[in-house]
Amino acid sequence: MNSPLAEPDIPVITIDGPSGAGKGTAAAAVAGELGFHLLDSGAIYRVAALHALRSNADLTVESSVLQTFSSMRATFEPGGADGVAAKLDGEDVSTQIRSEQAGNAASQVAVMPEVRIALRDAQRAFRVAPGLVADGRDMGTVVFPDAPLKIFLTASTRERALRRAKQLKDKGITANIAQLAQAIAERDDRDASREHSPLSRAGDAISIESSSMSLEEVVERILTAWNALG
Ligand code: DC
Repeated sequence: MNSPLAEPDIPVITIDGPSGAGKGTAAAAVAGELGFHLLDSGAIYRVAALHALRSNADLTVESSVLQTFSSMRATFEPGGADGVAAKLDGEDVSTQIRSEQAGNAASQVAVMPEVRIALRDAQRAFRVAPGLVADGRDMGTVVFPDAPLKIFLTASTRERALRRAKQLKDKGITANIAQLAQAIAERDDRDASREHSPLSRAGDAISIESSSMSLEEVVERILTAWNALG
């Protein structure tokens, strides 16, 4: 993957939490305010899973998924609707990686410890001056444990289902809130109960429960915490 060499003393703000909590939007806004780089680590798992799918790997067998990585030519650049333009073999896959199929495949390969290790350096390589905002599940616990500011962002299952339904509606897709809530709860369960790097709050993370907060309020809280570090 094509990122410049990482510098360990460059500041990182990590934003972890369950899917649909608004991490990506908040991370992009904070990065924009501070002029920092952005790492959407979920996109890395999604691209790796898409590549494995396209290579006909058996997604239930770790060695089968790992084998496909040697032929993976993935790049991530700022841009696109989600803040990251992801390319596989030069093809822009930014839309494909947002499908439910890619999300579920990402969640499936994310339980595999060797897969997580194989993707770790690619994530750390985003730590480039003047700083990085990284969102995911284990940014503060595993990938950047020395980050000076760690946020754990949550929202209720219902609120996340409502937000997802609104996103889908904006794309002209009608969704059933109860079904969305169930799918979100199942994804949470898989992400939080896996053995390796489960979704969990870092001991030194600041928790923000965003169910009744606007994006602006969430960003303000993070920037206030950042400025308080001096
Ligand atoms: O944030 P997302 O929905 O794009 O992530 C897709 C999947 O990748 C999600 O089910 C969990 C996994 N993931 C992970 O295990 N660790 C990360 N740091 C980011 C994502």
